[in-house]
Amino acid sequence: MTDELEISNNDLVELAVEAMENAYAPYSNFSVGSALATDSHYIFTGANIENASYGLTVCAERVAIFKAVSEGHTKIEKIAIVSSSGEFTYPCGACRQVLNEFAGSATVILGNNRGEIKTTTVKELLPHSFGPNDLT
Ligand code: THU
Repeated sequence: MTDELEISNNDLVELAVEAMENAYAPYSNFSVGSALATDSHYIFTGANIENASYGLTVCAERVAIFKAVSEGHTKIEKIAIVSSSGEFTYPCGACRQVLNEFAGSATVILGNNRGEIKTTTVKELLPHSFGPNDLT
């Protein structure tokens, strides 16, 4: 059954594109935008935030996830990612681990600048993961 409150993949990608406008990426010139939907149908967005001390950079996906979690929304159902490359941009390894924590069953939606969308899952991106259940 389709949940009528659920945002479409296309709309989530659109929000990720809008969020990318706020990327702070003066060092890489590589902007990334992300938008996620929680199981409570809340939407959070993020953009990558770089730093003159390069290693302190935070990826767009983690900005969006931490915004959600810090507002009390710990279950993510889907997350969209776009980048200024215009090509499908997959989340980095660190983001995959953070996705595994809060979006283990989520759909990951990638958008390019030709209006195309590709979907995958966190399980597919991070097989044989170490996660919350391994500590119980
Ligand atoms: N970046 C993201 O925001 N998400 C990813 O999953 C890959 C990389 C950012 C970090 C950095 O600001 C820029 O892209 C280049 O690595």
